[in-house]
Amino acid sequence: MVEDSKMSGFYKLSRKERVKMLMKVTGLGEDDLGPLIDPGKVDLEILDHMIENVVGAMTLPLGIATNFKIDGKDYVIPMALEEPSVVAAASNAARMARNLGGFTATDTGPLMIAQIQVVEVPTPYAAKNRVIEAKDELLRLANEQDPILVRFGGGARDLRVRIIDTSAGVMLITELIIDTRDAMGANAVNTMAEALAPRIEKLTDGRVILRILSNLAEYRLVRARATFDKEMLGGDDVVNDIIAAWAFAEADPYRCATHNKGIMNGIDAVVIATGNDFRAIEAGAHSYAAVDGYKSLTKYEKDIDGNLVGSIEIPMAVGLVGGATKVHPVARACVKILGVKTALELGHVIASVGLAQNLAALRALASEGIQKGHMALHARNVAATAGARGEQVDIIAKRLVEERNVKVERAKEILDEVSK
Ligand code: MEV
Repeated sequence: MVEDSKMSGFYKLSRKERVKMLMKVTGLGEDDLGPLIDPGKVDLEILDHMIENVVGAMTLPLGIATNFKIDGKDYVIPMALEEPSVVAAASNAARMARNLGGFTATDTGPLMIAQIQVVEVPTPYAAKNRVIEAKDELLRLANEQDPILVRFGGGARDLRVRIIDTSAGVMLITELIIDTRDAMGANAVNTMAEALAPRIEKLTDGRVILRILSNLAEYRLVRARATFDKEMLGGDDVVNDIIAAWAFAEADPYRCATHNKGIMNGIDAVVIATGNDFRAIEAGAHSYAAVDGYKSLTKYEKDIDGNLVGSIEIPMAVGLVGGATKVHPVARACVKILGVKTALELGHVIASVGLAQNLAALRALASEGIQKGHMALHARNVAATAGARGEQVDIIAKRLVEERNVKVERAKEILDEVSK
C-alpha cells in the first residue's frame, strides 16, 4: 500500500530517478516493473497471441499521476497516453482535492446487461409474459454456463423484457442482468446470451438474431465526488467561472462533446494502462451521457464555504481477471502499482481520475486558457530533447517560454550557455 502519493518533486526528476522513487513509494522492484520501465523486455511472443497478424508493438508513454487520495487511501496512478498535459493536470487537480478529503466513490456492483433480440414474434405481449414467467429457469440455464463465475459470487441475477418498435418491425428484447465480479465479463455475458437463445425462441415463437452484451452498462456505475479548494483553484471568480463552464456543457452538445472528451482523457489513460477495453468504456460513457439528451458526465456545485464540489457518474465495465489485464506484462505491472484488489476498486480510481481531469481542464479553460500550461510542458519536453537534465530542464524551459521560442535549436543554445 502506498503511504503518500504526493511524491513531491516527482515531475522534476529524470526518468531514472522517477523509477527509483516509484519503486520506493510502491515497494515494487525490477521483477514487478521490468517491462514497464524497459518496453524492450515485453515478450513479443505474448503479443503475438493477443491479436491476429502481429508484426510488432506500438508503445505509448506511461506516466504516473500523483496526489490521489480515494476513499481514504493513497494511490499512484499509471496513465498511458500520447497527449501532453493530461498527467500533470490530473495530478494537480488531485492536489486541490487532497486537503479536503480527496475523492469518495461508490458503485452499483459489477452488473452487465446481455441482450437477446427476437424478431417475428406473433404475440409480443404474451411472449413477454411467458419469458418473465420462465425467469428462474432462464437464470439457472444462464448460470450453468459459468460455474466458476458463480463460485466467485457472480452470475445471472435478473431478467427484463422490452418490446421495441423498429423500422424492421416489432422486436422483443430479452435482457439478462449478470454480475461479472472481477471480470469485465464480455465472454461470460455473451456465452450466457447465446445459451439462452434456443429456449427464448421456444418461449416466444419468434426468431433470435443478436445475442450480445450492451456497453450501455447502466447497472455498472461508479459515482465519485470531491471538494476542490477554492483558494487553490484561484478564488471565488474562478469557482464561479468553472460552474459556468460546466453549465455551458450541460446546455450545449457541441461543448459537451469536448467536455466529456476531457473526462475520457484521464479515464482512457488508466483503462489502457491496465489493459482494459477502452472502446467499451468510451461507448458506455457517451451512451450514458446521452440517455436523457447528451449531458455532462460530471456535475459542479459550490458548498457553503465557497469550495467547488464536483461529482461524476459513469458506467465502468473494467476487469482485473482475464483479457489483456492478466496477459500483458505492462498492464500487470500497472495493476500492481495501483494496488487495487477488486475491479470495483479499480473503477473507483478510474472515475476519480475522470473527475480530476475534467476539473483541471475546466479550471484552465475558465482562467488562463489551456495553451499556457501546454506550452510550459512542451517547453520541458523540448529542453529534455535538447539534452537538458535535472535542474537544467526547468531553467531552459522557463527561458524558452519567456522568449516565446520553444524550439530544440534554441534550447541547445541555452543549454550550452547554462553548461558553461
Ligand atoms: C483536450 O484534450 C481536452 C479539453 O479540450 C477538455 C475540455 O475542453 O474540457 C481541454
